[in-house]
Order: sequence, then C-alpha cells, then structure tokens
Amino acid sequence: RLWSTKELLLNAENGGYAVGAFNVYNLEGVQAVVAAAEEEQSPAILQIHPSALKQGGIPLVACCISAAEQASVGLILLSGELKLIQVPITVHFDHGNSKQELMEVLEMGFDSVMVDGSHLPFEDNVSYTKFISLLANSKNMMVEAELGRLSGTEDDLTVEEYEARLTDADQAEEFIDKTGIDALAVCIGNVHGKYPAGGPNLRLELLKDLYSLSSKKGVYLVLHGASGVPRELVKECIDLGVRKFNVNTEVRKAYMESISSPQKDLVQVMASAKEAMKVVVAEKMHLFGSAGKA
Ligand code: G3H
Ligand code: 13P
Ligand code: ZN
Ligand code: NA
Repeated sequence: RLWSTKELLLNAENGGYAVGAFNVYNLEGVQAVVAAAEEEQSPAILQIHPSALKQGGIPLVACCISAAEQASVGLILLSGELKLIQVPITVHFDHGNSKQELMEVLEMGFDSVMVDGSHLPFEDNVSYTKFISLLANSKNMMVEAELGRLSGTEDDLTVEEYEARLTDADQAEEFIDKTGIDALAVCIGNVHGKYPAGGPNLRLELLKDLYSLSSKKGVYLVLHGASGVPRELVKECIDLGVRKFNVNTEVRKAYMESISSPQKDLVQVMASAKEAMKVVVAEKMHLFGSAGKA
C-alpha cells in the first residue's frame, strides 16, 4: 500500500483540514467514494461497519482494497526521479466491538481499525483497546478508539446521564497514555443518524480541551455522526482539531432514495445510485477541506 490511514490524518493535521470516512456497503458505494476522491482530488477513507462486513464478507473488503489500490495510480517525474502517485484512499474497519471479531478482522487486510469499547467501563475499555492496539500496531495498522459513549436520538436520558456519556478530558489523557492509540473518537454531543430538531449541540469547549491534550501526544480526533452536522459547525470542529469525520446516514439516504425511484434497467439503477452517493461524498470532501489535497 502506498498510504496508511495515519498518514492521511497527519497530512490533514498539517494542512488544517479533515478526511471523510464514508461507510460503504457494496460495489456502488465503493465506486462512489473512489470516483468522488478522483474527481475532487481528495484523500478518503472507505469504512466498513460490522453489519456491512457480515453481509458482504471478504469480497466487500477485497473490493475496497482493490479500488483503493487502483485509484488514479500514475507515474510522475519529480526532480529527475520517477515517482508513483495516487489519490490517497485507505480502508478502515468501523466500530469493532468484539475481541473475537477484531482478531479476525486484523487478518483481512484493512489499513486501520476502530476498537469500540465505549460500551465498557473505563478500565475494561482500556484493557480491550490496549490488547487490540498491540496486535494492530504489530501489523502496521492504525487504531482508533472511543471514550465516552455516543447517545442515540432514541435514548431517553436525564441531563446527568447525558453529560456522563461525554468524553472526559482527564480520562482521555489517561486512556491515550495507557492504550497507545493513534486516533480518538470523541463524544461531545454528536450522535449517529439524525439530530433532534434544532440540530446538534456540540460542546466545543470540551473539543478544544481534548485537542490540546491529544495533539501533544500525536493523537488525531475523530467525530462520528457527521451526517446532519451543519456546515458552520463542521468548520468549527475542524478549526478545533477534528481530522476524521465519519459519514454514513446521508450517503445511505441518497442511495435508498435513488433505488426507490422507478427505473427499469438494473444497470441504470446501479449507475444512478452510484451517482447519487458520489454527489453527497464530493460535497463532504469540499466541506471537510480535503478536496484538492490529494
Ligand atoms: O443524519 C441526518 C440525516 O442525513 C438527515 O436526514 O433529512 O431525513 O432529516 P433527514
Ligand atoms: P452518521 O450516520 O451520523 O453519518 O454517523 C456515521 C458514523 O459515525 C459511522 O461510524
Ligand atoms: Zn460511528
Ligand atoms: Na449524525
């Protein structure tokens, strides 16, 4: 591989932008992300959720790897030397919340994994994350982990319960030191799927604190639940240190709407779905500032 997920995030850190990690489920999804990356000259992360892996299996992973490897590979002459260039795309496993599953996933050829121990008590999250982190690092795979717990829109929480789920800055420092992770998924009021009417209430002060400690340790911040976060807020998150945004719902919605419109020809159904997803992905690349950074 020419690129690692860590390099993509390092470049984003140096360039003051963020990389989109787009959940993909099938060939059209993979093609949509790769085509957007090529057209926008943007780095990108193809991301597979456990439910998508269960459905698509190794062929889905192989499809991502092959598409990433073939993305605009070319040779250029740079200061008298022939160099291989490529739109930087890596393949990431999203929300790995079981040890058994992650140990299998580590053999599948991903560039990076998320170890999601956010459902566990702090010490258990530390030991789970550290265990996988050591294995993954020995295979040169980047590790993202989560501290705090994302609330679902459907969760009925008291204010205290809700606050308790936010990432704690002191714990974050300890978590990073003990686990050796490369990227931290933060819980600052972000949620998967839709936001309640009125939009997200993100704790930007907390994000600022998290970035000031994570950046000293060379750890990149990740925001899950990026679908539905308004433009200005996305920009603020980037200014405050978010380097990876996970996007699922908005791309999936474009796909579902496209395939539910009446079309007769199957190839046309697939092509339209791919195009619909590509439009959303390309928009996000511009919003995240990664367009033109390949
Ligand atoms: O997560 C947010 C969704 O992309 C917004 O979906 O237009 O159905 O509210 P909606
Ligand atoms: P959204 O569905 O809100 O985009 O969240 C995606 C995500 O965090 C995947 O891990
Ligand atoms: Zn997520
Ligand atoms: Na969301």
